[in-house]
Amino acid sequence: MNLAIRLLSAIALLGGLSLAQTESRARNCITCHGLEAKQSLSSIHARGQVDCITCHGGVAEEIEVAKAHVGVRKLDQPRESVESCGGCHSDVERMRSFGLRTDQLSLYFTSRHGAKLALDDDPNVATCVSCHGAHDVIAVRDPRSPIHERNQVGTCGRCHGDTELMGKYGLPADIVAKFRGSVHGTALLDDAHPAAPACTDCHGSHGAQPPRIGDVELVCGNCHSVVQNFFDQSPHSISGGAKTGIQCTACHDNHGTERPSAAMFEGDDVGHCGNCHLDAGDPARAAAARLHADVDRLVSTIRDADAAIGSAALRGLFLGEERGYLEEARGLLVRARTMTHTLSPAALDDVLNRGQAMVQTTMENLDKKHRVFRDRKIFTGIFFAVAVAFAIALAMHGRDLGGRWKKAAKAGSGGSHA
Ligand code: HEC
Ligand code: HEC
Ligand code: HEC
Ligand code: HEC
Ligand code: HEC
Ligand code: HEC
Ligand code: HEC
Ligand code: HEC
Ligand code: HEC
Repeated sequence: MNLAIRLLSAIALLGGLSLAQTESRARNCITCHGLEAKQSLSSIHARGQVDCITCHGGVAEEIEVAKAHVGVRKLDQPRESVESCGGCHSDVERMRSFGLRTDQLSLYFTSRHGAKLALDDDPNVATCVSCHGAHDVIAVRDPRSPIHERNQVGTCGRCHGDTELMGKYGLPADIVAKFRGSVHGTALLDDAHPAAPACTDCHGSHGAQPPRIGDVELVCGNCHSVVQNFFDQSPHSISGGAKTGIQCTACHDNHGTERPSAAMFEGDDVGHCGNCHLDAGDPARAAAARLHADVDRLVSTIRDADAAIGSAALRGLFLGEERGYLEEARGLLVRARTMTHTLSPAALDDVLNRGQAMVQTTMENLDKKHRVFRDRKIFTGIFFAVAVAFAIALAMHGRDLGGRWKKAAKAGSGGSHA
């Protein structure tokens, strides 16, 4: 029963395919190769008139296996397939009408993957097929593509997460797991942050190789340009005069980038200042302590002001303006944090002072509102007391009048009786 259904659907599939391909020169290949045909016909290559014979060769007119296969290339050797895919893709004439670049093959051989293939036909490195597929190639922008940013953890990770395979090359296999848990991995895969980096944003795709030491700054700075500008002024940066180039990754790691905090100015963990500046007399330690203390002061005054606003709000004060000032102070704090990359406490003075001034304005405003509130309360109290006194006086006066009237009435009636 089950088999019958499968047979029927296989016949239906082949029928459909050959119907669609009756004019195709590869129709004989398709008749015998259902699976490959199904994948090929829904790939981007079907649109580009690339068929079985374009890639594998063979004799279109023959329906007998042996005769049809004359000249067929299996393309199962990495070098053979790279040259097949790459050969066509470096054909400028052919690629022009599709608006595709033609540098994949030449770049590939500059990458660690390609270099290793060229050197000793290493079958373990990534080829065009391991990143894009063979029969089921789709547009690289398609979210289902194996090299789409959000799928790279799986595609690159198939090899780079394989401990045994990576061990052969002395490469760590925890890169993918580290990246997955980093600020970047979370931004990319959990928050779908449109600007978060995937493997190839830092490594390049075809020229895959780790950025050389001199290039790392450029890679991070592509996205973090403001930090980069301040970092360039620091004594760590080569442009800032350093002889040994400290890079972003010395403090933030390359794959395991964590959410940074002021704690990095303290202690001697990897990436913290004390990790390299061990000597107590090192001027760098004094700089670290001051940067930390100065930024921390603004953090704590903002925290106090925030608490003050919170309790004032509970008393029913309207505080839109004060909240605005405090927001501005917070903006200046973010700026100051970024500016710590200059490693120069003096460079932060201006922005920190402006931040403190904003907090002060907030607190002064809050004070003024409290005073007005208190004055209004006293006024209301006095007004209330006066009103009560007046009411009592009025009441007493009323009783007095009533008494007199009664007396007068009594006197009047007494007179008439007499
Ligand atoms: C009559 C059926 C038939 C036709 C027509 C046919 N093939 Fe095959 N093909 C087979 C079979 C069966 C195999 C697996 C056995 C073998 O290796 O010969 C195969 C294997 C292959 C392989 C893998 C080679 C290997 O040794 O594993 C390729 C590539 C291939 N065919 C391409 C083609 C192309 C291209 C065409 C059209 C020009 C074509 N075939 C036409 C039946 C066919
Ligand atoms: C864009 C080029 C391209 C096209 C088009 C193409 N192939 Fe292939 N094919 C390859 C490559 C490359 C491989 C080797 C895949 C690998 O190494 O994993 C391959 C592998 C194969 C194999 C061996 C599969 C195996 O598992 O051993 C067969 C059979 C085959 N192709 C048949 C076909 C048929 C039939 C068509 C047409 C319907 C076709 N191919 C279209 C590039 C192509
Ligand atoms: C290590 C994985 C990897 C390998 C190996 C690889 N590619 Fe790519 N390829 C990518 C990525 C990622 C993109 C997406 C665009 C980008 O980042 O450059 C891409 C994009 C492309 C594009 C679209 C380019 C464009 O102009 O829009 C083509 C075509 C392509 N690759 C062909 C190839 C060919 C041919 C080979 C083998 C010589 C190859 N690729 C090897 C990962 C790879
Ligand atoms: C005979 C020429 C030829 C061969 C061989 C070939 N391609 Fe292509 N490829 C094309 C053409 C033409 C297109 C554009 C199709 C379109 O956009 O309609 C294309 C498109 C692509 C794209 C999609 C680019 C985009 O727009 O995002 C990728 C990826 C790709 N090919 C990879 C490969 C891989 C991998 C192989 C080897 C398995 C290969 N190609 C073999 C001609 C070829
Ligand atoms: C088919 C397996 C495979 C896939 C898929 C693969 N790689 Fe590789 N990669 C390797 C192997 C094996 C090496 C080691 C080559 C050597 O060191 O000679 C390597 C080396 C590298 C290197 C150089 C490391 C060094 O310093 O030696 C980088 C960077 C790299 N790969 C990045 C990537 C990225 C990014 C992707 C995905 C877009 C990817 N790889 C996909 C197998 C793969
Ligand atoms: C934010 C940028 C960034 C991202 C994202 C990134 N890398 Fe890296 N990667 C680096 C830097 C920087 C280095 C170190 C370069 C050096 O030391 O010269 C590196 C090194 C490597 C190495 C060599 C490791 C070694 O110890 O020699 C491999 C392999 C690698 N990365 C693969 C990957 C893979 C796979 C992904 C995706 C899962 C990825 N990278 C994501 C920046 C990045
Ligand atoms: C393709 C763009 C891109 C590249 C390249 C890039 N980043 Fe990022 N990075 C981001 C985005 C987007 C975020 C924001 C994640 C968030 O805030 O949730 C981020 C976040 C960060 C954070 C945390 C910021 C915070 O406020 O908590 C640090 C630290 C960081 N990146 C360092 C680096 C380093 C070091 C490199 C180079 C090795 C690098 N980045 C390369 C885009 C990039
Ligand atoms: C990965 C090691 C490393 C880390 C981490 C590190 N530094 Fe440095 N730092 C150096 C080296 C090496 C130099 C000397 C640069 C040169 O001139 O070649 C230096 C120089 C300095 C200088 C200039 C000192 C002088 O004598 O003028 C200051 C200031 C400084 N670092 C501050 C810091 C601060 C603050 C931190 C933490 C946020 C930090 N460093 C983290 C390695 C490091
Ligand atoms: C010497 C160590 C060190 C180096 C080198 C370094 N950073 Fe930082 N980075 C820090 C510290 C410490 C913080 C936390 C500051 C704070 O929260 O007060 C930080 C914070 C950050 C932040 C989050 C705050 C913000 O400004 O957005 C980003 C993003 C960042 N760094 C990126 C980079 C990039 C990109 C580079 C290279 C151009 C770099 N860092 C170089 C130590 C460093």
